[in-house]
Amino acid sequence: MGYGPRGKIWSKVVNKNKQTILVGICDINQNLKKKSPVKFYSKLDNAILDTNPDAVILSTPPFNRMKDLKVCAKYKLSVLVEKPLTVNFNEAKKLITFMTRKKLLLFVGLNFRYLPTTLEKIKLINSSKVGKPIFSKFIYERWRDGRLERLNKYPLFMKHPMLWEQSIHHFDLIRFIFKSNIKSVFAKTFNPPWSMYKHHTNVNAIFELRNGMIVNYVGNWQSNSKTLNFEWRTDCTKGIIIQKEQFKNLNYRTLENKKITNIKLKKFRMWLDDAEALLNDFIKVEKNSKNLIKINKDHLNSLSIVEACIASAKTGKKISVKNY
Ligand SMILES: NC(=O)c1ccc[n+]([C@@H]2O[C@H](COP(=O)([O-])OP(=O)(O)OC[C@H]3O[C@@H](n4cnc5c(N)ncnc54)[C@H](O)[C@@H]3O)[C@@H](O)[C@H]2O)c1
Repeated sequence: MGYGPRGKIWSKVVNKNKQTILVGICDINQNLKKKSPVKFYSKLDNAILDTNPDAVILSTPPFNRMKDLKVCAKYKLSVLVEKPLTVNFNEAKKLITFMTRKKLLLFVGLNFRYLPTTLEKIKLINSSKVGKPIFSKFIYERWRDGRLERLNKYPLFMKHPMLWEQSIHHFDLIRFIFKSNIKSVFAKTFNPPWSMYKHHTNVNAIFELRNGMIVNYVGNWQSNSKTLNFEWRTDCTKGIIIQKEQFKNLNYRTLENKKITNIKLKKFRMWLDDAEALLNDFIKVEKNSKNLIKINKDHLNSLSIVEACIASAKTGKKISVKNY
């Protein structure tokens, strides 16, 4: 459901996966029909009745998802939904409560959790090589041309596009890799004078994690250089972990060692292999939904960081983050 740039990736991944069959595509834009590799529908209800799927992938923009979830729930279908679940925290709680009451899986697609850099960083932390993470600096500086044909257009006009659309990936990774929720947030958000976006593209924040870690976050979509600058450095009890590029270049160095060690990452096709791993995980969880409440609620702990950044930027105060 939703055959935009992201839906097109999903159609390829579902088609290729040995466990899945793409039975239909649904999009309100009828012009996409000619590009559809399978039967095309413009109404979700009709698509489900006609194709009888086992699950639905929702890759529509993150507004008014309840309407579609109600249709999926009517046919008792689990849903793999794109991030962010919503652009409103209370609405997210409602969607999660609704699906959980119906005993249906609402699995939010955080594909960055399946990147080789993510998995190897977790392995490194679990090994005794660098010790325990104590503080971290996450830098993502990008000049994102929101007018490009291949990119969605709604971020140009929505409130806090960086936080809801991009930082949500980073915040989720911080929780996922450091295995901790966030305790408090102090943040400033703004739009630089050259911004092509209507609302704040730049986020500077400090997080205090429940496990005691301190994380400095600088994330933006309107830096003023067309090359993306990424650096994620974590200082641990025995050394440091440095990731110098968004999806590769992961290294570590111990205090005593003069040399930096590069971690070999497995060959990887960005946007396809990560989505495939995510899809496999969704299928696994769907078959054994013992922890349904916990899984459905998980994304709230990342969305609550977005919510806290907005509140902190608005009030100028440090905000305590509730965990779910
Ligand atoms: N996980 C990732 O790495 C990643 C990457 C890109 C986008 N996304 C997410 O995927 C979602 C979609 O992004 P996109 O770039 O494809 O957006 P888009 O706006 O370019 O495309 C969305 C498509 O959904 C269709 N649509 C809109 N409302 C609909 C409705 N009610 N019913 C049926 N179809 C509808 C539109 O016609 C369009 O074809 C967003 O939530 C976005 O944040 C995730």
